[in-house]
Amino acid sequence: MTMRILLLLSLMVFGVAPASAADTAASIEVWKSATCECCGAWVKHLEANGFTVKVNAAEPSALASLKRQAGIGDKLASCHTAMIDGYVIEGHVPGTDIKRLVAEHPDAIGLAVPGMPAGSPGMEQGAEFEPYDVLLIKKDGTTETFASH
Ligand code: CU
Ligand code: CU
Repeated sequence: MTMRILLLLSLMVFGVAPASAADTAASIEVWKSATCECCGAWVKHLEANGFTVKVNAAEPSALASLKRQAGIGDKLASCHTAMIDGYVIEGHVPGTDIKRLVAEHPDAIGLAVPGMPAGSPGMEQGAEFEPYDVLLIKKDGTTETFASH
């Protein structure tokens, strides 16, 4: 019996138990079209990574103007747009990169994965994997590579 309790305690300490306080603090708001399936799959990826996600269904025209206002040009655009901690997240950006952005807190607009690369979170298509970069969008509109996958 004692062993059982010790095992349970160690599981809790080492975080095998449900999301830690730090994880649950990450809440993100997403705008996507109501019927976008890969957007829904990306939302599930975020939830699996400890984010609390608020999803807003947006008409294509509203989504387009939201992107424009957020500083997302055509070259950076993807299917959905999200906001976390004052940053814009465009497209199928992995949760780990979003956590790093929030932790490092650079002076920037946010992150983008332009298009919809196969194999990025929410874009799983069997074994297909198209290498892609996560771009950091600077305040002047230029970008630099934040992460490569
Ligand atoms: Cu998509
Ligand atoms: Cu999407």
